[in-house]
Amino acid sequence: MTGLWMGPGHTGIVVVMDITTSTVFIPGATSGLGLALAQRLQAAGSTVVIGGRRASRLASLREAFGFGTVEVDVSDADSIAAAATTVLAEYPALDTLVTMSGIMRNEDLRSPDHIDDALDTIQTNLVGTIRLIDAFLPHLLTRPSATVITVSSGLAFVPLTATPTYSATKAGVHAYTEALRQQLVGTPVSVLELVPPAVQTDLMGGADFGGMPLDAFTDEVVGLLRSGAAPEILVENVQGFRWSERDGTHQQLVEMLASRGH
Ligand SMILES: NC(=O)c1ccc[n+]([C@@H]2O[C@H](COP(=O)([O-])OP(=O)(O)OC[C@H]3O[C@@H](n4cnc5c(N)ncnc54)[C@H](OP(=O)(O)O)[C@@H]3O)[C@@H](O)[C@H]2O)c1
Repeated sequence: MTGLWMGPGHTGIVVVMDITTSTVFIPGATSGLGLALAQRLQAAGSTVVIGGRRASRLASLREAFGFGTVEVDVSDADSIAAAATTVLAEYPALDTLVTMSGIMRNEDLRSPDHIDDALDTIQTNLVGTIRLIDAFLPHLLTRPSATVITVSSGLAFVPLTATPTYSATKAGVHAYTEALRQQLVGTPVSVLELVPPAVQTDLMGGADFGGMPLDAFTDEVVGLLRSGAAPEILVENVQGFRWSERDGTHQQLVEMLASRGH
């Protein structure tokens, strides 16, 4: 069964994923948001394959939860190509890709020494997203109904002063997602964007951002996915960042975030 939505300002009817019957690949699900989503989708009835670099984590999660697993480093083109070959050979019914892998690092822009962190972040968060979509889209376009879910951040809309390149990659993921969605109008592939607010995970070594609890976040996300309400998956806590330009609160929020962790 499929759900339908007609998004505001969006052309055409889009078929939304059915979380009870999908076959989903989530690179970036060895911890945090990806693992929580993988558990919920599997519990709802979907078949879930998780990916990441940590082979031992993958093995123990496979053992504990019965996920399919594949080792992948999304900063490496050959690794993505190999993972796509493996996943598609083992799961030809794959109809959903969630580009979850991401890293976040502090950078002090007053020193050019930050450049390696900047390049790693772009390679993982933005180029990794682009390459994953390139690797899976030809297959997804052959499915009767398929979904790509990209993962941006509230920081795509209000940058965190301490993490400039991270914020820029997430703004990039947002723009890329909008263009992808428009290119795929009229195809069987729907394009959703998960826009998390701060959530308590291992990102940045588990540093405390005042994020919301992972379970509460995942509950809200699953509710939004089930309702098929909109192409952007916006939990309550991220609304203020998402709409800050419209609401006239943007500069105030930028300055508020400047006081955090820099
Ligand atoms: N937590 C938040 O507050 C928040 C807010 C907004 C957006 N997000 C986004 O949500 C996503 C998940 O983050 P999280 O908070 O759940 O953090 P996390 O617990 O650190 O999870 C990050 C995941 O990305 C994977 N990963 C990192 N680099 C990778 C690479 N080169 N190749 C493959 N996988 C890689 C990690 O797996 P391995 O280490 O096993 O490779 C891990 O599974 C990220 O895109 C993040 O930017 C998080």
